[in-house]
Amino acid sequence: MDLFSPVRLGDLELANRVVMAPLTRMRSGRAGIPRDIVVEHYEQRAGVGLVVTEGTFPNEESRAFAGQPGIVTDEQAEGWRRVADAVHARGGRIVMQVMHGGRVSHPELTGTRVVAPSALPIRGEVHVGGGVKQPFPVPHALTTDEARATLADFVAASERAVAAGLDGVELHGANGYLLHEFLSPASNQRDDVYGGSPENRARFVVEVATAVAEAVGPGRVGLRISPEHNIQDALETDREDVLATYGALMDGLRPLGLAYLSVLHVEPGGDLVQELRRRFGGPLIANSGFGTVTTREEALRLIDDAHAEAVAVGRPVLANPDLVARWRGEHPENQPDPATFYASGPEGYTDYPFLAAAR
Ligand SMILES: Cc1cc2nc3c(=O)[nH]c(=O)nc-3n(C[C@H](O)[C@H](O)[C@H](O)COP(=O)(O)O)c2cc1C
Repeated sequence: MDLFSPVRLGDLELANRVVMAPLTRMRSGRAGIPRDIVVEHYEQRAGVGLVVTEGTFPNEESRAFAGQPGIVTDEQAEGWRRVADAVHARGGRIVMQVMHGGRVSHPELTGTRVVAPSALPIRGEVHVGGGVKQPFPVPHALTTDEARATLADFVAASERAVAAGLDGVELHGANGYLLHEFLSPASNQRDDVYGGSPENRARFVVEVATAVAEAVGPGRVGLRISPEHNIQDALETDREDVLATYGALMDGLRPLGLAYLSVLHVEPGGDLVQELRRRFGGPLIANSGFGTVTTREEALRLIDDAHAEAVAVGRPVLANPDLVARWRGEHPENQPDPATFYASGPEGYTDYPFLAAAR
């Protein structure tokens, strides 16, 4: 198979297999409303097979970053409608990454409490905006009822995203945020139905995915996971436990028939990811993680080796609005500038040159 060939992921028809990975860029202000430069940023990148938006918060206590966009208020939904319309006008597809930050936050960011599966803080400091850092707080451990209310917020947010014209949602179960915190034995020390055994730790994610799939249709729902990423203290260092936990997760997801599973793991073609792919039974989007920037060669090879149906590409899409055309024609690439990843304006956001302008 060829990276530039079309593919179907559930209800999503992609013109090619390059997926824009979710990229937090923090340019939506205190109100969390995607504004003109955000519309322009995504519109510029609509030539990928599928745009996955940056992690977007489904309720106030799930907010993790200053300038993060939300999908809570009508104004936020209207902002997203403009983004979706702009991507569609260019023939693209777009899903929203619905992200609950869990304990990777601070009351100064949420404006309210910080929640997690258990009252265990992350060691270290969190950026609270304006260049200021604070120690991570001790999060409030969600009660069983509060966990179910959080699930309902995921559903409402997903419905709002689809009503605003997005083609679907990706649930953020990766990188140490709330859903991942339920999966990891280091961050989940609950003794109710959502904690303890691998099956119990997988249960909350299965229930969220099931409820969202029922609400908006399974063919519009993807899930992102990052087993063994060992980030933000959501440690997963025992391969047997990882297989048991994520295996239980896959067994719970398989009957749903979701659009895709997106996996961030250093070895997408390795035993763990390919075993989870078999147990999931649907399309896989692969990404080898933060350690090295995805290259054209790696993306081509993942598809050629049939290790995935599509490839999530982060920093190269960030720096190249026309990445697919560049990769297709083997043209040179702009290099990403980390200093502007989380800045506030158009610099390093909407001003990376297109190929024609670069020549
Ligand atoms: C600036 C930046 C922001 C990111 N934001 C998110 C995010 O909101 N959600 C997520 O799941 N991953 C996020 N990631 C991880 C990327 O989706 C991707 O997995 C990572 O960049 C590795 O892929 P790459 O080598 O192609 O860049 C982010 C990465 C970067 C560099």
